[in-house]
Amino acid sequence: MDIDVPAVLEHLVDRAHAAAATSIGFPGAVDLDYTDVVARLGHRLWNNIGDPATDPGGAAHTKALERAVVAWFADTLAMPPDDRWGYVTTGGTEGNLAALHAAHRRHRRAVVYYSAAAHYSIPKIVDVIGARAVVINARPDGEMDYAHLAAQVRRRPTRPAIVVATAGTTMTEAVDDTTRIRDVLAAHGPGGHLHVDAALSGIPLALDGQLRIDDGSGIGSIAISGHKFLGVPMPCGVVLIRDRAARIHGGHITYTNTADTTISGSRCGLAAALLWHAIASYGREGHRWRASEARQLAAYTVDRLTAAGWPAWRHPHAFTIVLDTPPATVRQKWLLATDGAVSHVICMPGVTRRQIDAFVADITAAITPPAASIPRPRARPTETPPSRNQPPRTDVLVPAPSTAPRRRPT
Ligand SMILES: Cc1ncc(COP(=O)(O)O)c(C=O)c1O
Repeated sequence: MDIDVPAVLEHLVDRAHAAAATSIGFPGAVDLDYTDVVARLGHRLWNNIGDPATDPGGAAHTKALERAVVAWFADTLAMPPDDRWGYVTTGGTEGNLAALHAAHRRHRRAVVYYSAAAHYSIPKIVDVIGARAVVINARPDGEMDYAHLAAQVRRRPTRPAIVVATAGTTMTEAVDDTTRIRDVLAAHGPGGHLHVDAALSGIPLALDGQLRIDDGSGIGSIAISGHKFLGVPMPCGVVLIRDRAARIHGGHITYTNTADTTISGSRCGLAAALLWHAIASYGREGHRWRASEARQLAAYTVDRLTAAGWPAWRHPHAFTIVLDTPPATVRQKWLLATDGAVSHVICMPGVTRRQIDAFVADITAAITPPAASIPRPRARPTETPPSRNQPPRTDVLVPAPSTAPRRRPT
């Protein structure tokens, strides 16, 4: 078989490149340049097999960088230095799985509580670990209904509670109030575990001091994606777990010479190097600046959409703009994430004002009714017909500006 391999790969790159300009519906930052790391390391296998603290034989791993990444995430989240553990995962889902698996091993009879706005990975993980679960109501803005949580936890007074809070829900980027959840857990006799699924917002909130896993927080674990705010060009993430007793204490695997504490055995060392590159190159101040610029663009987007007559809003900390679902042509062109009547765009770092202006222009064009056609005036009998040498009159063909109000399609 004769396959033009370079042409196939080039086709993929061209297609992705063409789609990038109108890709504002999903939360991957596009402002960081990882080309150098991929060029230097991408041609060989880097396998961070096993626990980050135990190095396998040989040198084909990036465990030193992984330890630096875990330490940076833990410091940024104010985790106590003597009570922290974590590793680089394949993404937010594996982080949630590792944390909930560990919590469930510790509290075998626990019920898992998660909100209706939680990510779809949570019910899947509940199924995988074989736990019982209760879905808690979410408010229309995406935040958990704490009164409902408290009532549901009280209904099961003998069972520990594992509560999943979300920091940055998938549709509205709502942040559940971990202080209120901590208080519910503190009043619950059998206790439990508070896990935060912070796939998108974990780092930006922590950089602002709005998310801390310190002694007072009551938070036992957190999962963060690496390809969202940090824009790593491959799916990855970090999970952090407090409370030594909650962690999996896997055995020592003789032939790899590593401890088996992670969900995956072989793990991607390139992902750890890419994450390390992002934090070493930009530092906390650089990432704070990226988050601030992105939030300013998000505020601008709300202003522009509202001025165009299209309902839109955002949480004050959010990169996400929630809007009424636009017509299909706009939705498809801009790859909007849509859930029925509601859609969102996300101003991740790297999205530009020019993209937002073009997006708003497309919405405006889609909702502006075509100008009413003006009846052609009948030629007056006295008027001489235009001579062949004269240009045709165009004035009557130019429609008057429409004064019709903008109307949203039904
Ligand atoms: C709130 C939340 N949790 C978890 C995930 C899953 O993360 P990943 O796709 O990295 O597995 C996402 C991804 O969109 C998310 O938004």
